[in-house]
Amino acid sequence: MKEALYKKLGLVNTREMFKGAINGGYAIPAYNFNNMEQLQAIIGACAETNSPVIIQVSSGARKYANQTMLRYMAEGAVQMARKDFKSNIPIVLHLDHGDTYELCVSCIESGFSSVMIDGSAHPYEENIALTKKVVDYAHQYDVTVEGELGVLAGIEDDVKAETHTYTDPKQVQDFVGKTGVDSLAISIGTSHGAYKFKPGQPVPPLRFDILKEIEKKLPGFPIVLHGSSSVPQEYVQMVNKYGGAMKDAVGVPEEQLREATKSAVCKINIDSDGRLVVTGVIRKVFVEKPAEFDPRKYLGPAREELKKLLIHKNQNVLGSAGKA
Ligand code: G3H
Ligand code: 13P
Ligand code: ZN
Repeated sequence: MKEALYKKLGLVNTREMFKGAINGGYAIPAYNFNNMEQLQAIIGACAETNSPVIIQVSSGARKYANQTMLRYMAEGAVQMARKDFKSNIPIVLHLDHGDTYELCVSCIESGFSSVMIDGSAHPYEENIALTKKVVDYAHQYDVTVEGELGVLAGIEDDVKAETHTYTDPKQVQDFVGKTGVDSLAISIGTSHGAYKFKPGQPVPPLRFDILKEIEKKLPGFPIVLHGSSSVPQEYVQMVNKYGGAMKDAVGVPEEQLREATKSAVCKINIDSDGRLVVTGVIRKVFVEKPAEFDPRKYLGPAREELKKLLIHKNQNVLGSAGKA
């Protein structure tokens, strides 16, 4: 095994986390971040609830935060958990929706302990070839790899799909066998962003029937659910009350996510909810205190509210609290 930078930073890969989650009937939170305040809220919430955590970064987030800065942010996150929170929670730094082999290599070189190679928009055989190439590289460093089969409706990696292409359970064994991935993201009715379902109509249940079929084909294999923000209406209302325009935002009901955690789903991706809370709180401060111009006075309350929401998710939705 070649020496991996992530181990020096105090990070871990997903292997042990996923074993615990599958055996224990809970899911690991995979929270996206782009800046310091979001990362502080994630680590604070997970340390306080004693939850394992995956901190994840999209290619856009990596460009935004700067790849060098990110390496030290991840190390800082580990050190903050250990020193300030006296917490030993395992922390994974994961690339979300990596789209090229080169990006995955670059992330592994700069301290990521897990990468997603998302070849789901490519034809099946190309997805296999690309994913296998990343797995072969990553495994030399004991970095774990997430692949994807099926396409979520909405916007995914700049690919816009009008409808879901649900994961075909007949393909999963072949895909996992040929690529060697450590986990598989599937499409069963979730989508990215804050506008997942039609407003004013009952939310259609996720396709648990497809999930069951997949579990039958891959017993005990870690499954990943993307697009899992619940879009809490209190924060949508906060955004709208203070001058925003997010009228028809609807997310995945928490009960459905809770049900998913009982299955082989062991990683649940949440980005939009974090964006929503931060935006709602900042808008509120701007309206209520228009003379305020110290960023700490609006980013600070936004960070606190985000932490509160993530604590709620760990305790009441994902079931990861107390599992570190
Ligand atoms: O699945 C996509 C994530 O929500 C990241 O979004 O590419 O805008 O950073 P982003
Ligand atoms: P949401 O947009 O539902 O938060 O999904 C995020 C995600 O899947 C990141 O990969
Ligand atoms: Zn995603």
